Amino acid sequence: MPTCSAHAVVDLDVTGATISKHLYGHFAEHLGRCIYGGFWVGEDSSIPNEGGIRLDVVEALRALDVPNLRWPGGCFADAYHWRDGIGPKQDRPVMVNSLWGDVEENNHFGTHEFMALCELLGADPYINGNVGSGTVQEMSEWVEYLTRDGDSPMVRLRKANGRDAPWKVPFWGIGNEAWGCGGHMRAETYADLACRYATFLHNHDGNTLYRIAAGASDDDLTWTEALMKAVSCLGCTSRPRGLFQAISFHYYTFAGDGISKSPAIGFTDEQYYRTMVKAADIDRVIAAHSAVMDAYDPLRQVGLVCDEWGTWWEVEPGTNPRFLYQQNTLRDALVASLHFDIFHKHAARLRMANIAQTVNVLQAMILTDDEDRLVLTPTYHVFEMNKGHQDAVSVPVHLVEAAPAVTVGDQELDPLSVSASTKDGRALVSLSNLALDTDTTVRLDLRGRAITATRARILTADKPQSHNTPTAPDAVAPADFAVTTRPGAHGSTELTAVLPPHSFAIVELDLA
Ligand code: AHR
Repeated sequence: MPTCSAHAVVDLDVTGATISKHLYGHFAEHLGRCIYGGFWVGEDSSIPNEGGIRLDVVEALRALDVPNLRWPGGCFADAYHWRDGIGPKQDRPVMVNSLWGDVEENNHFGTHEFMALCELLGADPYINGNVGSGTVQEMSEWVEYLTRDGDSPMVRLRKANGRDAPWKVPFWGIGNEAWGCGGHMRAETYADLACRYATFLHNHDGNTLYRIAAGASDDDLTWTEALMKAVSCLGCTSRPRGLFQAISFHYYTFAGDGISKSPAIGFTDEQYYRTMVKAADIDRVIAAHSAVMDAYDPLRQVGLVCDEWGTWWEVEPGTNPRFLYQQNTLRDALVASLHFDIFHKHAARLRMANIAQTVNVLQAMILTDDEDRLVLTPTYHVFEMNKGHQDAVSVPVHLVEAAPAVTVGDQELDPLSVSASTKDGRALVSLSNLALDTDTTVRLDLRGRAITATRARILTADKPQSHNTPTAPDAVAPADFAVTTRPGAHGSTELTAVLPPHSFAIVELDLA
């Protein structure tokens, strides 16, 4: 096996931005089998459930410390009318989910069921309202229905549906992909609409809203600039108008051939590397959006939110092409670990991110099958291994000697990705070796804090196509990993880790 080496310095006593736990957020859309068959099986199911919510799925997700869950879309959000999903289930109207498979939606999973799911997960709700086919009044009343205390028309309606106390719902999305499925609008048109909607989404009874304007696709900076112009002015250091508190963008990863165009499992080495180049490019995209936002909001009061990210492959053979049910391999796990390193780097502006999507859709944590067996994907394990970064303080990693770059077409891929953070007397270092056929010996000079104990785990497999199935659920699963430490110069610790090809490792350090 060819080997190479890399060397980095980690300053454990230098504090960077706090890595919001919300960078580890999730997304559940009424799409394919994400809600129905994924999260929701109904009260009468033989599958153990609480009020219709699948308990094996909840138990698996609780281990990830899910900080927030976005719902009901995606594109579906701009077709969804929340009043259809409250009250006795037999009275709820049926609609057609034209966007995703043209199937009937019986509205059995609605507002109360979503709030129950968030409570079971311990996650903050992130509700995406309907701008495309809804009204300002409809979204304003949804906020009132969920969050107002005391007495009001919407409070009386909520109580009639069995819930007396208001919920806390901090995160509200103002439409979705307004440039596309959310209404095919021009940026300026949507920016005006976002301001109008935001004006009528009120803080009720101590529930402070974090309103998120629907943002750009990929690196469409024009869209971001139009939204920033709506709330601030170029070079202003005064407070932006507090209409919306964040702007989103969406970024999907594929193998350079467009979304849904290449196989989830049977990919070539070239497709693997093109995937990594595309995943790594989110660094440039976040930096570009941040630069535009910095020009209008140098004090960084408006947040950037990537509320859809992940891989998008061909669907599993024999499944509905509009259900977006795809397999998930070690390659997907490495896309996730690379994204998280980049998210940590941009934590000063990037306040939230949501993987698309949590169960049975696109880059899922959990796949369920027709026999209702459940599989944890390689991506699930990255979220679990990395959860110690949530609300931790990022610390700088300086690459002194990089691993040799991999040439991919006319681009270069740095095969080693690293990030580090500290929290509660511990440090967590994440390391990904993206190379397909090279061991990388990584030497880290850990400076600034003494280390009293070290633990490490690794996620890898024989090949990047490896994945988990009901009959081989642990083909890709974390294992203990041996690293060595020895005293370094000036009281530092020198840590050495030999990362096998296509691997992700975490090192936890107890700090004196
Ligand atoms: O996540 C699947 C879809 O991708 C979402 O509904 C939409 O917002 C995006 O185009």
